[in-house]
Amino acid sequence: APSPYIRPVGAPLTVIAHRGASAVAPENTLVAQDIARSNGADWIENDVQPSKDGVPFVLHDSTVDRTTNGTGAIRNLTSTQLKQLDAGSWFGPAFVGVRIPTLAEQLADLRTRGGRLLLEIKGAHTKAEVGRIIDIVRAEQMTGRVFIQSFETNALKYSYELAPEIPLGLLRSTLDADPVAVARQYHLTAYNPAVAALTARPAVIASLHTAGVALMVWTVDSASQWQQLKTLGVDGVITNRSPELVDWNAAN
Ligand code: G3P
Ligand code: CA
Repeated sequence: APSPYIRPVGAPLTVIAHRGASAVAPENTLVAQDIARSNGADWIENDVQPSKDGVPFVLHDSTVDRTTNGTGAIRNLTSTQLKQLDAGSWFGPAFVGVRIPTLAEQLADLRTRGGRLLLEIKGAHTKAEVGRIIDIVRAEQMTGRVFIQSFETNALKYSYELAPEIPLGLLRSTLDADPVAVARQYHLTAYNPAVAALTARPAVIASLHTAGVALMVWTVDSASQWQQLKTLGVDGVITNRSPELVDWNAAN
């Protein structure tokens, strides 16, 4: 059967909200998730890393410095400390008091209010740390609505060993010589390259599709590039401007 993630010719691009609607709300928060969802995004993308006490939190950087009022590496801060931080005021006064969500909180919000998650395991993780993420996905009864992606091939390997039912995507900044071989090696459902790498060698799209592998391309915020990727046959687009891409899909 063809991959459900491969977009049929002529169908709209799959809209993946990069860290939520991160152009208009603080990234990787439930506010950003809610705006993306209510404006019609198909998927929310996030970044997941553990606290000092091993609780998976939703944060992009390895430190809290840029996106909260705190300082320090997330892996050196306890979940209690992380929960005290303000993750909204850096973005604007309308978001004062917004907290860093845990993965469990984010999944519970998606389960009860709708939406799917492209869950990025950010940075090197041990197998036990990947296991904790999977335990939470299962506890929240969200295995059918979660797709795991990572730049870290070990994280994908661990995920496949622990939960082969969860689809996997490999993030790449540059293309592999043979992306199809890499897709087979890591049991990939999607191969997710940076847009510049892909448009330099678009023939890989057909090769991957023939092998049943979808492409979700990052991070693409301009209509001219959305048009280029749609014409090339890409499946999903990871964008900071998901409300605009939803509108663009409807008009194109
Ligand atoms: O989803 C792809 C993209 O998020 C990867 O880069 O640094 O934004 O996590 P980054
Ligand atoms: Ca990411």
